[in-house]
Amino acid sequence: MLCLGIETSCDETAVALCDDGRPLLEKLASQIKLHALFGGVVPELASREHLRRMGPLLDALFREAGLGLADVDAVAVARGPGLLGSLLIGLAVAKGLALAAGKPLIGVDHLHAHLLAATLGREVAYPALGLLVSGGHTQIVLLRSPLDLTVLGRTVDDAAGEAFDKAAKSLNLPYPGGVFVDRLGAGIEPDRALFPRPNLENTHLDFSFSGLKTAVATHVARHPGLRLAVMPAPDGPVDAAAWPLDLRRVCSSLNFAVADTLRVKMERALDGLDVPAVSILAAGGVAANSRIRAMLEALGARRGLPCFLPEPALCADNATMIAAAGCLLGRAGLTHDLALDAVPRGRK
Ligand code: KG4
Ligand code: ZN
Repeated sequence: MLCLGIETSCDETAVALCDDGRPLLEKLASQIKLHALFGGVVPELASREHLRRMGPLLDALFREAGLGLADVDAVAVARGPGLLGSLLIGLAVAKGLALAAGKPLIGVDHLHAHLLAATLGREVAYPALGLLVSGGHTQIVLLRSPLDLTVLGRTVDDAAGEAFDKAAKSLNLPYPGGVFVDRLGAGIEPDRALFPRPNLENTHLDFSFSGLKTAVATHVARHPGLRLAVMPAPDGPVDAAAWPLDLRRVCSSLNFAVADTLRVKMERALDGLDVPAVSILAAGGVAANSRIRAMLEALGARRGLPCFLPEPALCADNATMIAAAGCLLGRAGLTHDLALDAVPRGRK
């Protein structure tokens, strides 16, 4: 099954083709530089950019793949969670293409697609315990199969990505700051006592990262020299070694606090399962974080469980994951009609 995937849930406009779950080609236009000017995603601008970028991306995708709309067997689109106006652009395009091609339309849950990205091209055994860590979500998910998901824990306030981005903002690092914090902290010993590992003194699997964000902001307020006088360009830190050591230690300590909080809840989840998990996997933009990846790999090794992590490009928002999810849902007959609606808050 050749599936076209469309992703417009936030600030990446992306289209991709997958053939029976095998990635063929992706065309992606990031809006990060535009939103970085405002210190975060501006929903109205995001919708307009999706509309402006979508046509040229589709043209390039089909031209470079040497394929046409008539070759496509199904059109999959992220229906949520995400920004409503942005989702509606993707849905409108997907409906038009599905109608024109006379092929099924498949609405995909964006978070489900993130998790499936970890399984692309791999033989994953189930049940698997998944960690979804993105800009808007932090969840521990039990996957009994690729189509049978149960959320075991979620954030009660900020997501892990928000904690990274808001902490980065207090250091005057550009939006989205997660990648800066990751790279600046790499190779530096963290101060393990500097920041709290929130919401661990309990028995449940929910997260709360807003206190961590505040702890970083308070620390920076007490040590104003940490805050950069000039915000760097949003392209990512070029030479981490050239940056102030005290700033790098703050970043390393934040990477540690987030990774270790995730570790404790993942261990708790593994210990509490009725049927033991036989694999672990992670997904979402924050799953690109090097300390979190190392933590998950070590966790898998300790428990004798294979650990599946998407390559960094497949951690962030992309359309390959939507097309791959579309192949899976389409094969299972889970298609939609043209009444398909956006679900900006996601499925319950
Ligand atoms: O999955 P994603 O691309 O979009 C959402 O669906 O939210 O995740 C974006 C989030 C942002 O908060 C960004 O700062 C964070 O992922 N992020 C990282 C890293 N790369 C991206 N956080 C920590 N370390 C990274 N290397
Ligand atoms: Zn996402």
